[in-house]
Amino acid sequence: MQIEVRFKVNQKEYRIKVDPLKTLLDVLRKDLHLTGTKEGCGKGECGACTVLLNGEPVNSCLVPASQINGVEILTIEGIGDEKHLHPIQKAFIEEGAVQCGFCTPGIIMSAYALLKKKRLPGKDDIKEAIAGNLCRCTGYSKIIKAIQKAAKVIMR
Ligand code: FES
Ligand code: FES
Repeated sequence: MQIEVRFKVNQKEYRIKVDPLKTLLDVLRKDLHLTGTKEGCGKGECGACTVLLNGEPVNSCLVPASQINGVEILTIEGIGDEKHLHPIQKAFIEEGAVQCGFCTPGIIMSAYALLKKKRLPGKDDIKEAIAGNLCRCTGYSKIIKAIQKAAKVIMR
């Protein structure tokens, strides 16, 4: 059985039929072809699939498609692109906070949500905000530096 859902992704309205048992992650990647959001563990443990749902970071692998009717989603594709990088994306590149890059979209979405709420977060705020995002490559210090740098750029 399929259900009809209407929702917005990156400001664009969608009205599609989905299997209610599918996850938001699958809807984004498979139905809408927004593959910037990554699938890691598929069970809420790695944060690679983080997107904003009505402004709050969520693990999209844990959100059933049956719950997306009427919501607004923001994915990594919605904050910047190669030609117009968001200051957080720019800072990640400049600070060397991207290695394999698999965790990067999820961490940037968590950072984006943090900077919307707190303009100049401290190290502990940043650590807390990205606590659900695993990175196996960087050791986090460059990621934290990049988020601090982006906060200062956005403040200007
Ligand atoms: S893929 Fe969703 S938390 Fe790991
Ligand atoms: S850069 Fe490889 S997992 Fe974070």
